[in-house]
Amino acid sequence: SPLDRLNTLRLPCTARFVAEVYSIRALSNILQSVTAKRLPRLILGGGSNLLLPNTLNALVIRPMLKGIRLLRTDGDRVIIEVMAGESWHQLVMETIARGWFGLENLALIPGTVGAAPVQNIGAYGVEIVDRLYSVQAMDRAGQLHDLRPEECQFAYRDSLFKQQDGEWVIVSVRFALSKKPQLVLGYGDVIQAAGEHPTPLSVANAIIHIRSQKLPDPNKIANAGSFFKNPCVSKSQFERLKAEWPQISGYPQSDGQVKLAAGWLIDQVGWKGRRLGGIAGCVGMYEKQALVLVNYGGATSHDVLALSMAVQADVWSRFSVKLEREPVVPIGAYDESA
Ligand code: EPU
Repeated sequence: SPLDRLNTLRLPCTARFVAEVYSIRALSNILQSVTAKRLPRLILGGGSNLLLPNTLNALVIRPMLKGIRLLRTDGDRVIIEVMAGESWHQLVMETIARGWFGLENLALIPGTVGAAPVQNIGAYGVEIVDRLYSVQAMDRAGQLHDLRPEECQFAYRDSLFKQQDGEWVIVSVRFALSKKPQLVLGYGDVIQAAGEHPTPLSVANAIIHIRSQKLPDPNKIANAGSFFKNPCVSKSQFERLKAEWPQISGYPQSDGQVKLAAGWLIDQVGWKGRRLGGIAGCVGMYEKQALVLVNYGGATSHDVLALSMAVQADVWSRFSVKLEREPVVPIGAYDESA
């Protein structure tokens, strides 16, 4: 079964089996049998954070469960439950239309609702953990668990579900939203684009506009969003860097470290808009946002890894900063024989 169209980097990939799952019960059954047979497995949502190998020796499970429902209202607070197979961006727009606010800054992020907590998606000052009520996830034995945010080990682009890759399948996500707009307007370009009297809808539209300006549309140019995390360095390393490159920006973190902009570092070492393998190279760092790795067509995971390592090496040799990849390589994917 080819997975080429099921990953936004459009990498060619063939898996042994792909199972589309439409109910909680079917999911439980399939997980029990996969666990009993000790088969390797991969849970595939929107495929927007994956680095797939040419051959995947695994059973691919696609949670297709749909539905958005109001669980309860408590004053201005609403708790909603959204099934894993819903589209993330459609959910954001739907909640705004229904007057349930809080997700607007996360508009236009590709992928499914079930995949969103895995990497704790975040943009423009909001992370999914900030709006989460709980996550319903199934374990290897097909049992459902209701996990509170504190149990999910959320951190920047990280969670329990990412750490324990393959252990959990997210079935639905519950959000705590608000009937009163609670706008997060910390970013200058968002304030500007949202107009004089910003509303949740105008903020969402501003973010859609900003993202479309610098991020490639995965339907037109294959990509997986930011390819690296923004790295954190110690305060003393930041001061040394700042002395040598006064234009570098850093954002102090609560743990005393300083977060750098990976896009800036990659830009500085000359990879912005550059392709691997000359002008006709099939992979490159995007011309409008150096943090986004793009597949111009025909690339395999090997091309992507080669480019990613070249970029990491150049950033390391100039700045002594390690860039960590964001998209996930399925466990065991590269040591199985084809
Ligand atoms: N920059 C450059 N050159 C570039 C790109 C960026 O100099 O080619 C500089 C910018 O000028 C800016 C800084 O780097 O000063 C930060 O850039 P930007 O505002 O575009 O945000 P980012 O840090 O590159 C992060 C997230 C995005 C998210 C935006 C907005 C990560 C890995 N990425 O990008 O998330 O949309 O902030 O909040 O944290 C994603 O994860 O896929 C993603 C798109």
